Formats: sequence, C-alpha cells, structure tokens
Amino acid sequence: MRKKMVAGNWKMNMTPRETVELIRTLKPMVSDTDVDVVFCVPAIDIVPAVEALKDSDIGIGAENMFYEEKGAYTGEVSPNMLADAGVSYVIVGHSERRQYFNETDEIVNKKVRKAIEHELTPIICCGETLEQREQGVTLDLIKKQIVGAFMHVSPENAVKCIIAYEPIWAIGTGRVASSAQAQEVCQGIRTTIRNIYGSVIAEQIRILYGGSVNAGNAKELFTEEDIDGGLVGGASLKPEFAKIVNYKKL
Ligand code: PGA
Repeated sequence: MRKKMVAGNWKMNMTPRETVELIRTLKPMVSDTDVDVVFCVPAIDIVPAVEALKDSDIGIGAENMFYEEKGAYTGEVSPNMLADAGVSYVIVGHSERRQYFNETDEIVNKKVRKAIEHELTPIICCGETLEQREQGVTLDLIKKQIVGAFMHVSPENAVKCIIAYEPIWAIGTGRVASSAQAQEVCQGIRTTIRNIYGSVIAEQIRILYGGSVNAGNAKELFTEEDIDGGLVGGASLKPEFAKIVNYKKL
C-alpha cells in the first residue's frame, strides 16, 4: 500500500516571520494523520521552517535547487546546502520553472540525480498546457517528461522519487482536472514507470496530482487508484490545507 502524501507548494509567498506564524497555525491541525505532510517553502524560509517544525513529522521541502554543489553561481542554492539545513524534499521541474526559468527535461534530470545523491527526495513535476491537451498529445508529452526526468536514475533510486502530475491549465486557475482526467494521466505515468523499471517499482512509486486542489475536491481526487495525494499551491497557505490533509474526514 502506498502511503498518501499531501505537499504544500508555497511558491513565492510568506516572509520568514510569516512562515513561523503559518506553521504555528497549521502544525497542530495536520499532526494527527497517517498521510505524509510536507511544506515546500521559499529558500529563505527553510531555516525558520525547520526550526518551527522540530519534534514534528512534517517534512520540509525546497521549491528548487541548482545541480552543482558549490562555486560561482550567484544566487543559486545547492543540494548540500538544503540537506545541511534539514530539508528532505525538493520540487524539481515545476511548470512555473519550466516556463519562466527555461528549465528543460535535461536540466530537470540533472537536478533529480543531484538531489538523490544528497538524499533529498525529488518531487518531479510534469504536465501539459491546455493547447497540448486539446491537440490530444497529453500522454505522449508526459511520457517524454518522465523518461527525460528519470534518465540514468537506478531502480533503487527511482522508487524513492515522487512524481506530481500538474496540468498547467489547472494551476492557480480554479479549473481543476476532473478526477477521471487526473487518474487517466497518473495511470499513464505509472505505465511509463512500469515500462522503464518494472511492476514492483511502478506499484511503489508515489504519484501526486496538483492544480487547484482544495477541500472540495481533494477526497475525490485522492481516492482514485493511481493518485497518491496532492501537491497543493494556493490552498496550502490557508487553514484549508489541514482539511486537504485530513481529506478522509471530508
Ligand atoms: P494551485 O498550484 O494549487 O494553486 O493550483 C499547484 C502547484 O502549482 O503546485
């Protein structure tokens, strides 16, 4: 049985001070659960978030990292810096990074491999635009993104990764994919993983759905066969996040 996960993606929101306040509010609301809970926070909020979450099972994730360990890369944050700060997860290849910061499948792959090397769990994002969906190329595109992200990743490392299917047209738009649409693509992702790594790994790897997840749709989405939880943007900054984590009680 795959353990469900609900990860918040705070994006470029919350100052360090606001981070401590939000964690103080959310922590007691998401502590009594059998779901893995992760807060992916801006780089500058990592240290106060780790401090605010010590003695808790809630994991801290970064929203991005560079694939080099140190050197003349002004403004970048390295995987070893994240690991040393107490980070356990890192979002890689979010569509906003692909769109605004030119992240390619090749860069995503370098980051995935580097994260694994430093024992960070990558949350690997994939997803299609509305135009691609309308052209009927969604599954082919997602397959290409997944194959690219997992290039040269061993089976023992692949199984530790988390995949997040996030249709771009559903991110921040309030236009959620139907649970059938989300399930179809998550199943396609699992098939792609099966074709690369075999059934055992395909059955174990966790695949999240992201894109306008809220308290009203979480239960339906997360009870689909191939959806193992969610990557939540907007609703992760509000007490609503706790309802999503506790979706079984909705
Ligand atoms: P959203 O964002 O929940 O605000 O749509 C999801 C994401 O981008 O990870």
